Amino acid sequence: MPWGSGNARPGERVHDGDGPGWPSRCWRARQPGRSGGAHVAERPTIGIFGAGKVGTALARLLVDAGYEVALAGSPRQTALELLVSVVAPGARVTDADRLAADSDVIVVAVPFGKAPTVPWESFDGKVVVDATNYWPPVDGHIPEIDADERTTSEIHAALNPAARVVKSLNHLGYHDMEDDPMPPGSPLRRAIAVVGDDADAREAVARIIDDLGFDPVDGGALGNGRALEPGHPAFGRELSARELARLLEAERAVAA
Ligand SMILES: NC(=O)c1ccc[n+]([C@@H]2O[C@H](COP(=O)([O-])OP(=O)(O)OC[C@H]3O[C@@H](n4cnc5c(N)ncnc54)[C@H](OP(=O)(O)O)[C@@H]3O)[C@@H](O)[C@H]2O)c1
Repeated sequence: MPWGSGNARPGERVHDGDGPGWPSRCWRARQPGRSGGAHVAERPTIGIFGAGKVGTALARLLVDAGYEVALAGSPRQTALELLVSVVAPGARVTDADRLAADSDVIVVAVPFGKAPTVPWESFDGKVVVDATNYWPPVDGHIPEIDADERTTSEIHAALNPAARVVKSLNHLGYHDMEDDPMPPGSPLRRAIAVVGDDADAREAVARIIDDLGFDPVDGGALGNGRALEPGHPAFGRELSARELARLLEAERAVAA
């Protein structure tokens, strides 16, 4: 469901502007999930694993939105500080251990096959946004993944059950995210879905998405993330909050 397409913050009761027939909503009442993890700061420090196309685009957007942002790159990347000072000024470069320790919210933006190389064991209690996609044209076919019935983010979440994993920021291209931010209430504002089993983690990520210039849509449990994966309906499509929410509901109905 849309968290709101006006000025409301996630968690507030909102009206999505479609006339009296569309009820006000309270996301918490409609999309339950476990909570009880540590409170996430209103302006969390955000750490991004992966200083590639998505990681640096998100860093630029987040710095512009006033967040403190740090990036950790691949061990193969040299002169990363110079690169980041040019492509994402205002973001810091740090190492993987410090990124995990110092960040309230962690974004995993590395190639799918490299996701197990980030230090999941350090993510206890952290909100972790899995922005990765398993995309065989890029990643090649990975037989264990092809044979696994879980969504790819459920597979990643199993790497550390104490991490509060959310799938989001994966289903729009980095250029779309950079080109299309809009203020709350803009009729053409695009939507980005948030799925995850921890309701507070979803809400924290939804606030960030709103600050980036997109309408967050609560997709409920992590297992609902299939619709956001490559080859599935939401992937790569620029949708309004209403369209994305309907699409996620339709996918859930098919899966049920
Ligand atoms: N491109 C898009 O528009 C888009 C949009 C949404 C989501 N995504 C997803 O986001 C992920 C990243 O995509 P991308 O296009 O940004 O890829 P990319 O340009 O190749 O950047 C990924 C970066 O992560 C680095 N990396 C690998 N292992 C790492 C580790 N353990 N710690 C830190 N950095 C590490 C890679 O370095 P090496 O080259 O040395 O491995 C590379 O520099 C993918 O899963 C993709 O499907 C992409």
